[in-house]
Amino acid sequence: MATRSRTQAPAGPVHVAVIMDGNGRWARERGLPRSKGHEAGAESVRAVVRACRDHGVRYLTLYAFSVENWKRPRSEVQGLMQLLRRFMDKEEHLLHEQQIRLRIMGRLEDLPKTVQKKLTRVMEKTSHYNAGELILALSYGSRTEIATAARRIAEKVQAGALDPAAIDETVFARHLYIPDVPDPDLMIRTSGEMRLSNFMLWQLSYAELYTTPVLWPDFREPQFAEALEAYRLRDRRYGGLSSPVKRERASC
Ligand code: FPP
Repeated sequence: MATRSRTQAPAGPVHVAVIMDGNGRWARERGLPRSKGHEAGAESVRAVVRACRDHGVRYLTLYAFSVENWKRPRSEVQGLMQLLRRFMDKEEHLLHEQQIRLRIMGRLEDLPKTVQKKLTRVMEKTSHYNAGELILALSYGSRTEIATAARRIAEKVQAGALDPAAIDETVFARHLYIPDVPDPDLMIRTSGEMRLSNFMLWQLSYAELYTTPVLWPDFREPQFAEALEAYRLRDRRYGGLSSPVKRERASC
């Protein structure tokens, strides 16, 4: 696992989160149905999972389906669910080969039963791997996550299991979906959009943001490597002062 210190330039991000955007536009540009854009997007998922190992990225979180995405046409939602199941059938071996643990962040219970079953089985089979983690945000919404955490905390307080005076950032964060995963260092959004779209609002507080006009189906290893390089040139201050080395480099 990559290690880092806050006094050194980061060697590379430990946790990368991605808003995979532009599948529909990619398909439209080619006169294809949107489903073809999602299929090509699944190829990019495969490529980026592989690239993480080569670049020493331990955690990869992908925004694969938001709570808002349920509002899309039924046929598109069904297509995405089928694609997800097919992807797991086809690519499960990749997780075993690379010893990657699969995790889901979001309301798994909202997904079709067959998809839930498949994902749960793969999560169980990969739960002991520790070379890396692939986290799929599914039926995920950050406001839902935060409201759910607040409700769980309130229930504990009501039951007398938690003192309100003890609630601080650390305690709150412990009630989010996957509390043991460190916050993302880098958040990539493809297709040129400049929004967070209800994605990891709490966890991205200090993340470096990187946006690219490249559409997700065209985002492969070279584009990922470019994003990592941009990250390495950033000066992460966490509210402190910039490092002299980085200030000098930035002025070159
Ligand atoms: C956003 O593009 C993409 C999605 C809502 C779905 C993401 C799904 C995949 C990349 C495919 C499969 C995923 C896995 C994990 C196997 P959009 O449809 O909003 O594009 P647009 O803004 O150009 O219309």
